[in-house]
Amino acid sequence: MPRPLHHLRAGVIGTGFIGPVHIEALKRLGVQVTAICGSTRSAQATAERWGIPEVYGDYNYHAMLQSSNVDVVHITSPNKVHVEQSLAALKAGKHVVCEKPLGMTAKETARVVTAAKRPSAPVFAVNYMCRFFPAVLQMRALVQRGELGQIMHVQGHFFQDWLLQDTDYNWRLLASEGGKLRAVGDIGTHWIDTVSFVLGAKAERVFAHLETFHKTRFRPKGEVQTFAQADPAQMVPYTVDTEDFGSVLLKFGQASHGFVNGVHANASISQVAAGWKCSLYVGIYGTKGSVQWEFQNPNHLIVGRRDSPNQILQRGTAGFSEDVAGFTDYPGGHPEGFPDSHKMHYRAVYEHIASGRTTPVLHATAAEGHHEVKLCEAVLKSSRTRQWQKV
Ligand SMILES: NC(=O)c1ccc[n+]([C@@H]2O[C@H](COP(=O)([O-])OP(=O)(O)OC[C@H]3O[C@@H](n4cnc5c(N)ncnc54)[C@H](O)[C@@H]3O)[C@@H](O)[C@H]2O)c1
Repeated sequence: MPRPLHHLRAGVIGTGFIGPVHIEALKRLGVQVTAICGSTRSAQATAERWGIPEVYGDYNYHAMLQSSNVDVVHITSPNKVHVEQSLAALKAGKHVVCEKPLGMTAKETARVVTAAKRPSAPVFAVNYMCRFFPAVLQMRALVQRGELGQIMHVQGHFFQDWLLQDTDYNWRLLASEGGKLRAVGDIGTHWIDTVSFVLGAKAERVFAHLETFHKTRFRPKGEVQTFAQADPAQMVPYTVDTEDFGSVLLKFGQASHGFVNGVHANASISQVAAGWKCSLYVGIYGTKGSVQWEFQNPNHLIVGRRDSPNQILQRGTAGFSEDVAGFTDYPGGHPEGFPDSHKMHYRAVYEHIASGRTTPVLHATAAEGHHEVKLCEAVLKSSRTRQWQKV
């Protein structure tokens, strides 16, 4: 039975695409959303829509951090302000759920690791919420119980098509706004974090090839919200300094459960893959069997066996065991998806806080968020040097 969470109060920074996803998930959990921070106009509009009492316009998150009505801060602003906002929130004694990636460079994200490690530091989570799809938790249990045998290799992709045209625009396209890696940093790190979580091991070495197909793109003069279309007549050209596509090889280290040691993985990451809206696909191959999962069909797992029939396991039915109890709310045949993965992530984080940190840490920590940023830097270096790089 999930623990009541309505005594905990959240403040959300950022009112674009993902901010309201956090708000909705928190409200479904019964958490009070007491404060919102963004541009003056959009913070006001978001507050009115969701009934949020405290409004901090002009991006004045410092004022929000002074509020005694906020226990947990959700950072859903663009990447370049994650670190400064995380450090300020920790300093103000607030627990933090920060969107991925944790920051722009490993040098700056290392500061968050140090701040979150202090003995009295609040709880800090990075929003790699794919970990909380019941199917992902189930894959993790299959691997860690040895049901697939010794894991040999992992394969997959993360494909989207919302940046296919040279007139598609978002701040992520600019290295100065989103970081030097775009497709790999923005969505590839979801794939890598998911696989690391399932395997229980870290990626230690990488080899990568990056491609920018649109070397020149066109941007609007004003701001555009994620996934929104701009008017092509109002656009100016600019040189693109981030990648549309990445092909990445990864070598994973050892897991404490003994079924993962030196696993080889390969993933293709693209934001220009026509037809794919948000497809994170992963296949994990062991000496006794395999398992496959896809984000757009998240309630099912395919377990592959050589000498017996393959199985389709369905969330909420006998194929999913007690491993996912507490991370799924609806019976089989009543699909759960993207919004539910956020809800389950925040449930785990808030229960960790409410329990006085006695529940297991399943969320991505500051150190794990930092590792993903280091990995991105190694990917970029590998693509430039055409050599394997240590993370
Ligand atoms: N976990 C996920 O599935 C997921 C999905 C989408 C985005 N994200 C992450 O969430 C973050 C936001 O992405 P988005 O797609 O919502 O972008 P967006 O552009 O739609 O929204 C960003 C919002 O932040 C506001 N903002 C800009 N500067 C700010 C500042 N200094 N302080 C506070 N707010 C500021 C903007 O006005 C806008 O409302 C990114 O880091 C992105 O990587 C995560």
